[in-house]
Amino acid sequence: MTSRAMGEQDGERVLVAGGAGFIGSHLVDALLARGASVVVLDSFLTGRRGNLAHLGREARFEWVEADVTRPLPKLPRFDRIFNLACAASPPHYQADPMHTMMTSVVGTNHLLERAREDGARFLQASTSEVYGDPEVHPQTESYWGNVNPTGPRACYDEGKRSAETLAFDFERVHRLDVRVARIFNTYGPRMRADDGRVVSNVVCQALADEPITVYGDGEQTRSFCYVADLVEGLMRLMDREKSPGGPVNLGNPREMTVAELVALVSRMTGTRSPVVRRPLPVDDPQRRRPDITRAQDLLGWSPQVPLEQGLEATIAWFAREIRPAEPTAVPGLGRFVGSRPFPPAEPALGDLAQGQP
Ligand SMILES: NC(=O)c1ccc[n+]([C@@H]2O[C@H](COP(=O)([O-])OP(=O)(O)OC[C@H]3O[C@@H](n4cnc5c(N)ncnc54)[C@H](O)[C@@H]3O)[C@@H](O)[C@H]2O)c1
Repeated sequence: MTSRAMGEQDGERVLVAGGAGFIGSHLVDALLARGASVVVLDSFLTGRRGNLAHLGREARFEWVEADVTRPLPKLPRFDRIFNLACAASPPHYQADPMHTMMTSVVGTNHLLERAREDGARFLQASTSEVYGDPEVHPQTESYWGNVNPTGPRACYDEGKRSAETLAFDFERVHRLDVRVARIFNTYGPRMRADDGRVVSNVVCQALADEPITVYGDGEQTRSFCYVADLVEGLMRLMDREKSPGGPVNLGNPREMTVAELVALVSRMTGTRSPVVRRPLPVDDPQRRRPDITRAQDLLGWSPQVPLEQGLEATIAWFAREIRPAEPTAVPGLGRFVGSRPFPPAEPALGDLAQGQP
C-alpha cells in the first residue's frame, strides 16, 4: 500500500519530534524516501542514535538534541510537524512520571506554538491508552474512555488526553490544521529489548530460551499493528487535504490474547521455554481492539501486514539485537544542528518496573 508522495510537494520541510524512537525513526525513513527534508528533534530519553545511524550521509536529514519540555531551539520554518516525543512503555514513562506528564502538556504546547508560528500542519501521536480500561469494545473514537486519573499510568494516559485537548483547542482558537492519531499497540524492528512491552518481552525471552513472563492469566487481549502499516497510516492522516475534525484510531483490529501471542512466538522461535505468571500491573487494560472504520473511510487505510509476517521480521531484528555478531559501534550521525556535541553513551533508564502495554 502506498500513499500520495509527499516529496512531490516540492521541498517540504518536516519536523519529527521523537524521531529517534521506534516509530519515529521508521516515519523518518518513509518521509525521506518520499523526498521530504526532515529534522529530528529528540532528547534521546528512550530513542536511540542507532535508529538514525544509517542516515549519516543523507543531505535532507538533520537532527537536534533537545527536550520538548524546554523552550525549543532555533530551527528553520516547517511545513509539517509530527509530535511523537514521549516515552511510550510503562517502565519508561513511569521512571519519571512528572517529566512524562510535562512532555505531553508543556512539550506539546511548545510544538503547537511552533506550528502556529510556521503555519504548519500538526499531527499529534496519541494513544489507545486514552480509552483506559475500556467498557466499550471495540473502541471507537466517540468513546470517552475509562481512565484512572491518579494511578501510576495516569502520567501517560492523562498527559496524552491533555495533549489532545490542547491540539483541538489550537484548532478551535487559532484555526491550526491539526490531526490526532490514536495509536494502538505497534510492534516491529527497532523496539527496545528493555521496554517491557508484551511483544519485545515475549520475543526476547523466547530467543534467550528463558521462562516467558505472562502477567495475569494471559486472557487479556491486545491487537498488534506492524510498524510499516502504522507509519503508512500516520502519513495518510497527515497528507489528507481536509482536517478529519477529531481523532482517528490507527491500529490492527485482529485481536488476540496474550497467551495466544506467547504460543505463536514459541512456535516461530522453536523455544520450549515455560511460562511464568506474574500479577497484573495496576490498571492494566483487559481488552484492546480498535474500531478503524474512520481510518478506512477517511484515509482508505487498513493494516496490510499479517501478524506472522511482522513477527518474523521482529524476531529476526531481536535475534541480531540480543546476539550481535560484533560490537555495535554507531558511526557519525547526520548533520548536528544543535549546540551540544554528540554524546557517546545511551541514557541509563535505571531499574525499571515491568508491564505489558
Ligand atoms: N509503540 C506503540 O505501541 C505506541 C502506541 C500508542 C502510542 N504511541 C505513541 O507514539 C509515539 C512514539 O512511540 P514509540 O513506541 O516510538 O516510543 P519511543 O520511546 O521509542 O519513542 C519516543 C521518542 O520520544 C523521545 N522523547 C521522549 N521524551 C522526550 C522529550 N521530553 N523531549 C524530546 N524527545 C523526547 C524519546 O527519546 C524517543 O526517541 C509516542 O508519543 C507514543 O506515546 C506508541
